[in-house]
Amino acid sequence: MDYEKYIKSVMDFPSKGINFRDITSLLEEGPVYQSAINDLAKFAKSKNAEIVVGPEARGFVIGGPLAYSLGIGFVPVRKPGKLPREVATVSYEKEYGTDTLCIHKDSIKPGQRVIVTDDLLATGGTIEATIKLVKELGGIVVGVVFLIELTELNGSELLKDYDVCSLIKY
Ligand code: PRP
Ligand code: HPA
Repeated sequence: MDYEKYIKSVMDFPSKGINFRDITSLLEEGPVYQSAINDLAKFAKSKNAEIVVGPEARGFVIGGPLAYSLGIGFVPVRKPGKLPREVATVSYEKEYGTDTLCIHKDSIKPGQRVIVTDDLLATGGTIEATIKLVKELGGIVVGVVFLIELTELNGSELLKDYDVCSLIKY
């Protein structure tokens, strides 16, 4: 399917000079959203994925339905102070300052086959931090999937050791 035509591009959001690729217009179209998840699920299935991991907030919109369609679990990666049980934590550099992400320490079993997902790959900082958490827990990253990859930001450089599937590339 030509997913790109369902993405609205918004100039100067959230700040001047940024051409924001908005996934919400795709999510609004049920059959398109379903088809996108099905395509990602096909990839994940070919990797024999056992669990899906995704960062808040937009990673949940992909990761939740993906896990559901595969009949496997979903593990949320969240900002500090949101997860109630013991967490593993990673800090990473953003354009301005640092950010921190957390995962429940007992959420992934050592050796489990993990698909890591988010809506969009930009610089790769978020997905790299998420992968670090998965590996700290002993998970094996068998694939990384996105709706969108912004190729000019070279995030895929950080993912060169992994099998990556993205449905739209800009
Ligand atoms: C966006 C997007 C990815 C991340 C990509 O999330 O959903 O998670 O940025 O950028 P990166 O590859 O440079 O790390 P955002 O931080 O805006 O948070 P949100 O999902 O809560 O909107
Ligand atoms: N769209 C959505 N999220 C983003 C973008 C974008 O173009 N760039 C960085 N995060």
